[in-house]
Amino acid sequence: MSEATTTMTMDKGLDHTIIGESTKSFIDGQKGVLEYVGIDIDSLARNSTFEETCFLLWNDRLPTPDELEAYTRRIRSHYDLSDAMWDAVRAVPHGAPPMHVLQAMVAMLAFEDPACDDQSRDAEEEKAIRILAKTPAIIANFDRVRKGLEIVRPDAGDDIATSFLRMLNGAAPGEASAKALDVCLILHADHGINASTFATMVVVGTESDMYSAVTGAIGTLRGPLHGGANERVMHMLQEIDGLDAVEDFVLGRLSRKEKVPGFGHRVYKAIDPRATYLKTFAESIATETGNLDLFHMSRRIEEIMESQVGAKGIHPNVDFYSATTYYSLGLAIDLFTPIFAMSRNAGWAAHALERLEDNRLIRPRCQYTGPHGAAYIPASER
Ligand code: ACO
Repeated sequence: MSEATTTMTMDKGLDHTIIGESTKSFIDGQKGVLEYVGIDIDSLARNSTFEETCFLLWNDRLPTPDELEAYTRRIRSHYDLSDAMWDAVRAVPHGAPPMHVLQAMVAMLAFEDPACDDQSRDAEEEKAIRILAKTPAIIANFDRVRKGLEIVRPDAGDDIATSFLRMLNGAAPGEASAKALDVCLILHADHGINASTFATMVVVGTESDMYSAVTGAIGTLRGPLHGGANERVMHMLQEIDGLDAVEDFVLGRLSRKEKVPGFGHRVYKAIDPRATYLKTFAESIATETGNLDLFHMSRRIEEIMESQVGAKGIHPNVDFYSATTYYSLGLAIDLFTPIFAMSRNAGWAAHALERLEDNRLIRPRCQYTGPHGAAYIPASER
């Protein structure tokens, strides 16, 4: 008997399935609107901080100044890694992909948590705080170790963006760079039930732990159809031989039915509001850092894509201009997606915690199309 029944509909990408209620983020893909807990993303990017945005997503309201202070202190108290974790960062093969390093290291955090199997809200939130707080040290210091540099431990006086850049570069970042990264972290913090967030929900839905959920999410985010697109955008920009070569490159890709990374979205059929914000931002950072050529190439790609496929609802997504922004900040290309993960920790935890309040095991079915009653043929007769 097939697993599916006649009352079920086939929904391969779950595009037509609502898997529960959520108060975290609202997306209107037709109008290009994104809100976290009702607050427009543009307003958060202009006025908030990444830490405040995390509090908002986990608690469904903005914190009072005292609450924000306590929450920030709590995160910072978990910045540092244990000796065993620092040893592990040093021991990772230098050629390892940073997303795999991050995934393995988040799994290792479970070894050190005696409350790993405690699914109370407090214990799960504490695990989420540990992951959020330690991820920057892991990513930044893996990058240092692979370059043959000494470990730089986190400074508990820094916010997350500043701490990451200080560890990465071994020096305090300029105010503009720290602000730019903080804004990128806000813009990437949550986005409904995207593929990696869904992965966390599937994992916590089995009453497994937050570390397992986030390692699943990191592996999911890595894919080029999801968070891995930001790295592909940068490789594409490097592959194109200057502004005059953009048109042929893009038209060539489209004629071969190859996708252009950083464009299109399952939900947005209007421009992704995060891309709108990042576009302006990318231009000012690129100007300041002497990377205006890249920005002009990006604008040209956008113009050509708009004229060719804009009518089909294919517009820049968050990954398109974040690539130029990260590159202008001097970040290695293979750190782009780990930085996305650093931010999306906020949304992964928000949805996992929310799901646990009203959990149901996620267990869809498929339409079986294979044979029935097949004979087992002994190996010697095959
Ligand atoms: N470039 C060119 N054509 C595209 C693109 C693109 N980036 N994206 C979609 N299309 C075209 C497809 O070729 C297809 O055309 P057809 O109808 O002529 O066959 C049509 O648009 C529909 O495409 P699907 O892939 O079926 O649409 P889906 O809703 O599954 O796509 C996705 C969403 C996967 C994001 C897709 O747009 C894509 O692959 N984009 C490139 C990768 C990317 O940037 N991913 C990041 C997404 S944002 C994020 O996850 C953070």
